[in-house]
Amino acid sequence: PRAALIDALGRRISYLRISVTDRCDLRCRYCMADRMTFLPRDQVLTLEEIALLADLFIARGVRKIRLTGGEPLVRRDIIDLVRRIGRHVGHGLDELTLTTNGTRLAEHANALFDAGIRRINVSLDSLDPDGFAYVTRRGNIQPVMDGLAAARAAGLSVKINMVALKGVNDDEILPMLRWCSNQGFDLSLIETMPLGETGEDRTDHYLPLTAVVDQLRQHVELSSIAYRTGGPSRYFAVEGMGVRLGLITPLTNNFCSDCNRMRMTCEGKIFMCLGHDDHVDLKSAFREGGLAAVQPLIDRALRLKPERHDFRIGADAPSATVQRHMSVTGG
Ligand code: GTP
Ligand code: 5AD
Ligand code: SF4
Repeated sequence: PRAALIDALGRRISYLRISVTDRCDLRCRYCMADRMTFLPRDQVLTLEEIALLADLFIARGVRKIRLTGGEPLVRRDIIDLVRRIGRHVGHGLDELTLTTNGTRLAEHANALFDAGIRRINVSLDSLDPDGFAYVTRRGNIQPVMDGLAAARAAGLSVKINMVALKGVNDDEILPMLRWCSNQGFDLSLIETMPLGETGEDRTDHYLPLTAVVDQLRQHVELSSIAYRTGGPSRYFAVEGMGVRLGLITPLTNNFCSDCNRMRMTCEGKIFMCLGHDDHVDLKSAFREGGLAAVQPLIDRALRLKPERHDFRIGADAPSATVQRHMSVTGG
């Protein structure tokens, strides 16, 4: 068998994020521009190709796979892929999971559970219909609420992802925490990252989570806990609320030194870091030479993994550290 995925700094890659489409039905202001050009379909890997590549990564020691996008549930027949990768859960794969905007969750929640998914992350930056419509530029919150109810009824554990945005949803963080507590969901707060031009000023909206925590502590008691999900969130218990609060702090508390992640885009490009342009392209090698032709490219990708990202937000920083949008790499 091929060697495990270990980079030059000794970091073991056990978590693969697969972006199954760059398309999305929303246009969140921190993620996309209002007008986006998406990949032509013939440049996108087929579901069968994605599944075969996932098999290979699992054989090389990946224990956790997350499907992302764009919005993964807008990809046609996505449940077929979930079922196909889901066969590995408990046999090499510890967890198959998904990050979704929730708009199509009501339709798919039961099928996701049946395919082996137990836990999902759902992006929700505002509980207020107008606030939600504003952040997503076109979203209707009701299908997301219905999707969340369906997920819970299906037995899926849910974590809400909320990107903290100054002047947009900073006054909704405590209400969101309380709401998550009532719903039985966890909550992760995320610092906005400068990927791709979105037509918005990131400096204006950047909210360091250090400030959010100071503010929250005036209302709730937070204690750091050892719970980990294998991703970048560091968790706190919230006294008396039975909810875990996760913090994802690329700007204020870098977590790259124990990074276990790599990413595959829907075109078959491997990015070893969200914040760098270096990548290898598996698609043509795979189409011409099969999995054997892909192996050396993966070894090359491992050598490309940088020590850390260089995200900066501020008056003297560029508006985007890399030009690629989040929806391409899948977060
Ligand atoms: P869990 O399995 O619940 O820990 O999920 P996760 O946090 O790994 O995944 P999710 O898709 O919910 O991502 C939440 C946020 O974390 C998104 O904004 C991602 O872009 C960000 N994120 C995940 N991995 C990395 C990383 O390696 N570097 C940076 N900078 N951000 C990351
Ligand atoms: N910065 C931080 N988080 C982002 N997300 C999308 N774009 C950005 C960004 N620029 C979040 C989404 C989703 C997760 C995959 O990444 O809200 O929850
Ligand atoms: Fe779509 Fe997610 Fe990007 Fe929002 S953050 S536009 S839901 S991919």
